[in-house]
Amino acid sequence: MDHHAHGTPTLENLHTETRTFSPLVSFAVHANATAYEYKKAEVDRLAYWREQALQLQWKIPFTEVLDWSDAPFARWFHDGTLNACDNAVDKHVRKGRGDRVAFYFEGEPGDTQTLTYNDMYERVQKAANGLLSLGVRKGDRVAIYLPQIPEAVVAMLACARIGAIHSVVFGGFSAESLRQRIDDAEAKLVITADGGNRRGAHLALKPLVDAALVPSENHDKPAESVTNVLVVRRTGQDTAWVEGRDLWWHDVVDPQPAQHEPEWVDAEHPLFILYTSGTTGTPKGLFHTTGGYLTQAMTSHKQVFDLKPETDVYWCTADVGWVTGHSYIVYGPMINGATQVLYEGVPNAPHEGRWWEIVEKYRVTILYTAPTAIRTCMKWGEAIPDQYDLSSLRLLGSVGEPINPEAWMWYRRVIGGNRCPVVDTWWQTETGAIMISPLPGVTATKPGCAHAPLPGVVADVVDDTGRSVSNGEGGYLVIREPWPSMLRGIWGDRKRYRKTYWNQFDGMYFAGDGAKKDIDGEIWLMGRVDDVMNVSGHRLSTTELEHALVSHPWVAEAAVVGASDETTGQAVVAFVVVRSDGDGAQATGEEVAQELRKQVRREIGPFATPRTILVVSEVPKTRSGKIMRRLLRDVAENRPVGDVTTLADGSVMNAIAEGLGAGKGD
Ligand code: PRX
Repeated sequence: MDHHAHGTPTLENLHTETRTFSPLVSFAVHANATAYEYKKAEVDRLAYWREQALQLQWKIPFTEVLDWSDAPFARWFHDGTLNACDNAVDKHVRKGRGDRVAFYFEGEPGDTQTLTYNDMYERVQKAANGLLSLGVRKGDRVAIYLPQIPEAVVAMLACARIGAIHSVVFGGFSAESLRQRIDDAEAKLVITADGGNRRGAHLALKPLVDAALVPSENHDKPAESVTNVLVVRRTGQDTAWVEGRDLWWHDVVDPQPAQHEPEWVDAEHPLFILYTSGTTGTPKGLFHTTGGYLTQAMTSHKQVFDLKPETDVYWCTADVGWVTGHSYIVYGPMINGATQVLYEGVPNAPHEGRWWEIVEKYRVTILYTAPTAIRTCMKWGEAIPDQYDLSSLRLLGSVGEPINPEAWMWYRRVIGGNRCPVVDTWWQTETGAIMISPLPGVTATKPGCAHAPLPGVVADVVDDTGRSVSNGEGGYLVIREPWPSMLRGIWGDRKRYRKTYWNQFDGMYFAGDGAKKDIDGEIWLMGRVDDVMNVSGHRLSTTELEHALVSHPWVAEAAVVGASDETTGQAVVAFVVVRSDGDGAQATGEEVAQELRKQVRREIGPFATPRTILVVSEVPKTRSGKIMRRLLRDVAENRPVGDVTTLADGSVMNAIAEGLGAGKGD
């Protein structure tokens, strides 16, 4: 396997990791999850999922659980009808729980809002009517490009309410990335804000939407599918305005009646599209449908986070622009009637104790975050969290990348006071919901281990030939049976779905991750085995970055690798060959690096900015022209360069290593 993820357990410590943490009896006796669920699902998996799905509110109940006759295209609960917003909001009002707080919103500047389920009910109905007034209809696509503010949740649910398909684009993406996503989904409407708050400054969003919609270097035409841009006033900054196209959210939504009958859709009606990076240059629009997705988001959230909706305060720190925000801020928790914290800002503004201040303020009981954040807090030192009362916490979750045992132990001890179970949850945009995780109150956990597939999920680790590996061996992570929240495909590209996920191993879903089974048969994730990088839990494609770099006139060739990084897990390291006939030939290495950093921000977004950009005379390739990323990773990680025998020109690596001796770094 050709990969090195940061902090992932090595085969060696995998066999020596003996620390286990058995569930406390005091936790176990009240736990939502029980060992019996595994048994039940094992005996009859489809009956298990039927039972779970029946906990949703159906308008017309389904009769068939799974139709797999057109594999790998699945249909779950397909003859039932329901509405996602009805499940997430209306249900609670109907059941007399409307007064419960749905969100404690904490803006970065310190402004707050408390929104009950009644408030959400009013807001989603008004927003649904607002969308209808703009001509958005069932099946239409709506791009949402917003900061982490309540309107983001309301906008998603309002789309779901009218049967429109939302495509949330993370606010850190550039105008160019936004445009690609708008075009691919043929979005009719873009919902954005004037801007958001970042470290005390106003970050503009609307100008990026404006830039995305007009003709540009990469697009000779304006974005033709878009008829309106709906703008939330968040920062109050000045905003250019296109008359007839741009509308304020408060003008459109606020005057609407707060009554709207949800659009009842088939279980297989698409709920959302979410773009994610694969191994090729173009992001894939993965789409999820309604019934199966909601079932698994709801069930996994209840089991893995042990949610007690009357008493818990749950906080998932992810952005709603990523799948974690979709499944574990919007759909799973809201269906379960959770009270949540929604925070607009970053962990260190205005100070490095901001997260822990929020935990103390709202008495947060369940925290779900990413290893990169944990490692960053470790770096700032435990004296910071120690200043706050974190005694309300009772469960800690991790997601996004392999968690190294040291970070796991620190999280458990410093944040969790040695009393909170830590759940390391493995899943993907594709899987829609958590697939592999310990169950709190049931599993004896090991630091850094994701343990076992959840009840109803059939995962395995296989070798090159698709044979299940023995305990103590490594291989590729696969899912053997369809699951309710599985992606239903890639928007507009049936073939690519089959080819990307179902071609490697016969009849199995290939996740793209390496994994190992320890001597107890428990699963440890080892990082991606393909050309996908994981930077601060954000998924990036090496090819996509290479495309962004070579589209700059100074660049002749580019090769990108993910090198291990202490804080971000992996960091982007780019090797570029500068064109001798361009202006770049006169520039210093530092100037080239600066210019190309700007290029990546412009083409993809600030979060993809390379840590290191190195100018080299040639990129190592095989005789068939494939970039040898393994060798470049050796250089980027300061290791002796590995086997070069398959290189077309064996001296290239020497030249690179020598050239870097002088100007290593950026
Ligand atoms: O490599 C795995 C890693 O993140 C990838 C999925 O990224 P994305 O679709 O952006 O979703 C992230 C949030 C669900 C996976 O292929 N990954 C995610 N969670 C873990 C993980 N790797 C190891 N351990 C995890 N808990």
